[in-house]
Amino acid sequence: MGNTKQYVIRGGIQGRERLRILARVMHDSTASLLSQLELTDGLACLDVGCGGGDVTREIARRVAPQGKAVGTDIDTTKLAIAREEVQEEHIDNVEFRLSDICEVFGAPEFDVVYSRFLLTHLSDPVAAVKSFLRQLRPGGILALEDIDFSGSFTYPEIPAFRKFYDLYNAVVRCRGGDPNIGQRLPVIMKDCGLEAIRVSVVQPTGLTGEVKLLNGLTMENITDVVLADQLATQEEIDEIVGELKEYATDDRTVMGIPRVVQVWGRLPFA
Ligand SMILES: C[S@@+](CC[C@H](N)C(=O)[O-])C[C@H]1O[C@@H](n2cnc3c(N)ncnc32)[C@H](O)[C@@H]1O
Repeated sequence: MGNTKQYVIRGGIQGRERLRILARVMHDSTASLLSQLELTDGLACLDVGCGGGDVTREIARRVAPQGKAVGTDIDTTKLAIAREEVQEEHIDNVEFRLSDICEVFGAPEFDVVYSRFLLTHLSDPVAAVKSFLRQLRPGGILALEDIDFSGSFTYPEIPAFRKFYDLYNAVVRCRGGDPNIGQRLPVIMKDCGLEAIRVSVVQPTGLTGEVKLLNGLTMENITDVVLADQLATQEEIDEIVGELKEYATDDRTVMGIPRVVQVWGRLPFA
């Protein structure tokens, strides 16, 4: 289905550190979504494109002690860090598997399939959702969170933000992804046959705090693909990153992450 090798954000240790901040910024919004899924002891849950496993761990906590959470990703470094961390934290109902979304076609094994910030990078998100559903038991829940990058803003707007906005859009689109996929998710779910679909929109934003670091960090972490696509020079990238970081330190500026669409629904029994 051609969904591999499209991830534009740096992986490995640097990518993991960015995800750690993203996880803290998204913590309350994702926790609120998970609460609505009514995860209970004993459920088997899958977190596709789990990164460092921040949400996988939270899901595991909610379904313990009988339930389990499995996180899958294609980034071996992030998975290794995630495995070390769950060991250190003595969480024993989590498993991390190296697996590309394109390659997973096991028998239905899960009561809940969850994925955050993955579909935006894929050229065939509908095929990905269909493969999620193949892993879901009848009556199971699919829950997705993904971005609508068009909802990004800063106040007041500065040229560096606009340059970042254009570069991010360009590199994601160039690899077949959809930076605004959040808008489409409810209809994708409906077309894939899910029922009782619910939708919510969140957008962590602030005058201060870690939420203001993410635009600069994302810009830094797409450097490799921006350079590969010859969309900007290293000097230009450094300037944009520097200006976004400087802007973030001013408590009279407003900055946040893109709008995030949360969608969840149930796979019919028959
Ligand atoms: C933006 S990160 C989000 C990570 C995690 N879901 C979170 O919210 O913290 C997207 C993750 O998807 C993974 N990924 C990208 N393409 C993938 C694919 N084809 N199959 C599985 N994982 C993939 C990346 O390695 C990365 O860890």
